[in-house]
Amino acid sequence: MTVRPATTEDLAAIAAIQSRSPEASQWDPPSYLIHDCMVAQETRVLGFLVARRTAPDEREILNVAVDPGERRKGVARALLEAELRRRKNHWFLEVRESNSCAIKLYQSVGFRVVSRREAYYTNPPEPAIVMKFDS
Ligand SMILES: CC(C)(COP(=O)(O)OP(=O)(O)OC[C@H]1O[C@@H](n2cnc3c(N)ncnc32)[C@H](O)[C@@H]1OP(=O)(O)O)[C@@H](O)C(=O)NCCC(=O)NCCS
Repeated sequence: MTVRPATTEDLAAIAAIQSRSPEASQWDPPSYLIHDCMVAQETRVLGFLVARRTAPDEREILNVAVDPGERRKGVARALLEAELRRRKNHWFLEVRESNSCAIKLYQSVGFRVVSRREAYYTNPPEPAIVMKFDS
């Protein structure tokens, strides 16, 4: 599996994966290329991760999703590990409290829960769990 920066040619695959992943944030895929967007690929794109710098030594994971037929094969972990190999940083992310798969994924690479934001999400309303990773 290769992890590489996304290009405009990946946007259709990213949009298809996102539409099959209702738990993921549903933003406009072209906007991901403004940030740091990576894809994991074998013969086709299997998943994507979007992150951005929020301060000189801080980054935020904005979205991650893997094609439903390719889950539990280490795709998201490979994407996260590539992101976390950037220079020394602190990373933050928010995740729906009910999204136990994603919370377990983040914990598996070393993120820890630092706070909870009441009524953070809408459609449906739900608290966010805030997680942090320090390299
Ligand atoms: C969450 C998601 C990205 C995980 O992708 P994935 O490629 O299947 O994850 P990986 O195979 O890399 O799993 C790495 C670890 O995460 C945890 N994990 C991932 N999926 C899990 C699940 N369904 N149940 C329990 N733990 C899970 C496990 O610890 C796993 O390690 P293991 O397989 O050795 O036990 C994927 O389920 C997805 O796209 N979900 C919909 C979108 C979403 O929720 N995004 C997060 C928004 S904040």
